[in-house]
Amino acid sequence: MRKVLCLLCILCGLTAIETQARQRRNFDADWLFILGDSAQMSKPEYNDCHWRRLNLPHDWAIEGDFSAGNPSGAGGGALPGGVGWYRKHFRIREVARYFVEFDGVYMNSTVYINGEKLGNRPYGYSSFEYEITKYLRTGDNVIAVRVDNSDQPNSRWYSGCGIYRHVWFIETSAVHVNHWGVHVVTDAKKGRAQVTVSVRGKGDVQNTLFDMSGAAVDQSSGKQSTLKVNTKKLRLWSPEHPNIYKVRTRVYAEGKLVDEVWTTTAFRDFRFDARTGFWLNGENMKLNGVCEHHDFGCLGAALNEDALHRKLTKLKAMGVNAIRSSHNPPAPELLNMCDTMGFIVMDESFDMWRRRKTQNDYARFFDEWHERDLSDLIRRDRNHPCILMWSIGNEVLEQWSSADADTLTLEQANLILNAGHDASTLAREGEMSVNTLLCDHLADIVRRYDTTRPITAGCNEPNPNNHLWKGKGIDIIGFNYHHDYIKDVPKNFPDRPFIMTESVSALQTTGFYKMPSDVIYKAPKEWWLPYTDPSFMCSAYDNMHASWSTTHEQNWYAVKNTTYCGGQFIWTGFDYLGEPTPYGFPARSSYFGIIDLSGQPKDVYYMYQSEWTDKNVLHLFPHWNWLEGQEIDLWCYYNNADEVELFINGESQGTRRKISTHNSQSSTLNSPFHVGWRVKFEPGEAKVVARKGGQVVGMKTMCTAGQPDHLRLTVDYDGNRQNADYSPANGRHLVFVRVEVVDRDGNLCPWAENQVFFDTTRGVQIVGVDNGSQFSMERFKDNKRKAFFGRCLVVLDGHGTLSAKAIGLKTATIQL
Ligand code: GAL
Repeated sequence: MRKVLCLLCILCGLTAIETQARQRRNFDADWLFILGDSAQMSKPEYNDCHWRRLNLPHDWAIEGDFSAGNPSGAGGGALPGGVGWYRKHFRIREVARYFVEFDGVYMNSTVYINGEKLGNRPYGYSSFEYEITKYLRTGDNVIAVRVDNSDQPNSRWYSGCGIYRHVWFIETSAVHVNHWGVHVVTDAKKGRAQVTVSVRGKGDVQNTLFDMSGAAVDQSSGKQSTLKVNTKKLRLWSPEHPNIYKVRTRVYAEGKLVDEVWTTTAFRDFRFDARTGFWLNGENMKLNGVCEHHDFGCLGAALNEDALHRKLTKLKAMGVNAIRSSHNPPAPELLNMCDTMGFIVMDESFDMWRRRKTQNDYARFFDEWHERDLSDLIRRDRNHPCILMWSIGNEVLEQWSSADADTLTLEQANLILNAGHDASTLAREGEMSVNTLLCDHLADIVRRYDTTRPITAGCNEPNPNNHLWKGKGIDIIGFNYHHDYIKDVPKNFPDRPFIMTESVSALQTTGFYKMPSDVIYKAPKEWWLPYTDPSFMCSAYDNMHASWSTTHEQNWYAVKNTTYCGGQFIWTGFDYLGEPTPYGFPARSSYFGIIDLSGQPKDVYYMYQSEWTDKNVLHLFPHWNWLEGQEIDLWCYYNNADEVELFINGESQGTRRKISTHNSQSSTLNSPFHVGWRVKFEPGEAKVVARKGGQVVGMKTMCTAGQPDHLRLTVDYDGNRQNADYSPANGRHLVFVRVEVVDRDGNLCPWAENQVFFDTTRGVQIVGVDNGSQFSMERFKDNKRKAFFGRCLVVLDGHGTLSAKAIGLKTATIQL
C-alpha cells in the first residue's frame, strides 16, 4: 500500500515541461517540503513521499508560534528558524537549454539537481539562476533545495524562512540571450528621445520599441542599437503618468527566430540639485517616500502579487510617490508594479558591509560575496524605469572609525577592494580611510553596470567626517534622521544634493491614544534605556516617537520648507514583523508604520493624504466612546477648506484653522497640519463641519457606539483581476476581508475585543488572520482572531462563502 501511495505521489508531482523557443514558466507548483536536515535529501532516490506538498512562495517561519526562546529574538519577529528542504519532481521531453531561476531564498540556499550540487547563495535577498541542462535526463528529475536559516539572529527585522519568492523554469534554444543579458538605457534630454539597447548572447539581434498603445515606434538590428522616438509623440514617465514603453529583443540563428525577450522601459528626465532639490521632467518636486520591508504581515515573507498590490494601492491613495526597498534587493514584482503604477524607487543593496549588526548577519559573507551580490542586483534591476537611485548601504558601521577597522590590514583592503585603488598609498597619505575606499569600491561596482543613476547611502552620521562622504562614491548625501542637522547641509556639503534617506520613526498603535495629546512621548527617552509601559502600545495621535527621531509633522514641516531637500523616505509605510521598538517580547512587530500590519491606516495616514493629494480629506479622531465627563482631545486632519468647526451634540466647540508656525519642541492642539479641541465627553455625536469661503464643503460625524451587536464583513482588497501585470504568477488570488464589531446601528465599537471565529465553505481557504496588534501572541495561520479595538482581518484564497461568528454577536457572512 505504501509503495502504491509513493508511486502515486511521484506521478502527481511530475510536471510535464514542453519545449519551444524561450519559455519562461512559473515553477511554483507542487514542491515537497520538510523542516529537517540530512545530506541524503539531495539524492534523487531519497524517499520524500511523506513530505508535505505545497506551492511556492513559502515561508515556514510564519506558520510557527511566537516564543521568547526563538533565536531570531523579538527583533526578528520571535518566530522559528532552522533548516528546511524543498524537492520537486519534473520531467522534460525534448533536448534544449534549461535554467532554473530563484527570485529569492532566505537564506543560505544550496541547490541540487539529480544529486549534483549547482551552487550556494548565502544572501537571502539575491536572485540567481543555474543552468541545469547537462544534469537532466528523460524521465524523473529532482531538484532539491536546502535552506539554512539556523544561525540566528542574522537580521534586525523579520526575514522569513524558505523559498519565499517565485521560482521560474526557463527553456531556450542553444542560441539565446544571456541571463539579464538585455540592457536598455533611455535618454530624454531636451530635443532628443532615444533608447540604447545592448544585448549579450549569441545570434543576430533585432530590437523593436513599442509605445503604450502597442504600436511599434522604431526598429534596429545589432547587439548595440539605438532606437529613436519622435519627441512630439514622446510620453514621459512620472508617478502621476507612468507611461511605459517596451523593447522586444529578437534573436535569430541562421535566419530562424530562436529567442525573444521583452523589457519594460520609459523616458524620464531627472536630477538632484544641491540648491533646489529633486526635479523630474522639468518639474521641481519632493520625494514623498516611504521605506518598506518585504513581509506581508500574516502572510509572512511569502510573496503574493495581490498582497503587494494591496500595499502599493494603499500607499498610492495616501499620496506616496516613492519607495525605498529597505534594506535589501526587493522582489522583482515590486519593481514591475512600481514601473507601471508610478512609484520612484531607491533600490538598496545592504544593511551592513564588513561590520556586523547582529551576530550572524551578512557581514560574515560580505568579503566573499559583496561583489557578486551587488553586481547581480544592478544587472537584474537596471532596466526598471522606476529606479532613480541606488543605495549601497544603510547605516553601515563603516561610517565611523573603530578598533574593528584596524583589523582590516591594508593588504586585505587592497585584496577586497581590488578596484584599481592603491589603498596603502591613499591611506598612508591620510587622504582616505579604508572605509572610504570600501564605499568607493562598492560605488564603482554599481557604475560598472549603470551610470545613469546617482548613488546614495542611508547615513546616521550627519557630520562631514563620515567616511562614506569623503570619497567619490556617494552622489547624494542621504540623512537617516538628524533633522536638526538639515540646516547645516549647505555649509557642510556645498554643491552636493541632499535627501532624507530615512526619517520620522514615529510610534503608533491603531486605536490607542495617549492624552494629553499636546505632549510628545519619547520611547525610549534615550536609545540605550529600556521602555516598559505595560500596555505594549504606542499613541496614535502623532505624539510619540523614538529618541533618535521625530513626529510625522515635525519632519514633514522640515522637508516641506527646505528647498534644497529633495524629499524623504519615512520609516515606514506599513508596520512590519520584528523590530518592536520601544518594547521587547511579547511585542514582536513594529510600531513605525503609517498603516498597521493588518492594512488598517493609522490616523496620520490622512495627514499625509491631506498634504500630498488633492483628494478632499476630513478625518476626525480618535472616536466618541469615553467615560462621561472625561477630558478628550479631538484632532482633525483636513484640506481644501479654510476652517473646521466642531459640534458636540449640536453645540459648537469653536472653529479652528491650521496655524502657520510649527512648534518644533512639542505637539500642539493646532498645527500647520491639523486642528484640535479639548472637550468633555458626553455620549451622543461629535461632528466636524469644514468650510471654504464661508461655504460648507465637508462634514464628518462620529457617534457613541452602543453595545456590540453584530459583525460586519467588508472586502478590503480583492485581487487585481483587471490588470494582468499585477496578477499572481502562480494564479493564487487573495481576498482580504475586514471584520468589524459594530453596534445595532453599525457604529464601530472601538473597545471591542471579541474572539471572532471563521468558517469557510469548500473552495475557500484561510491563509492568514491578523488584527494589527503588535504584541498579540495569536497564530497568523488560524481560523480565529480576537478583535483589536473593534477590528480584525482575514485573508482568503479561493471562491465561496466566509462566515464570522462571535459569542453574543449576530453572525456575518460574505460571498467571495
Ligand atoms: C534606523 C534603521 C532602520 C530601523 C529604524 C528604526 O536607524 O535604518 O532599519 O531600524 O532605525 O527607527
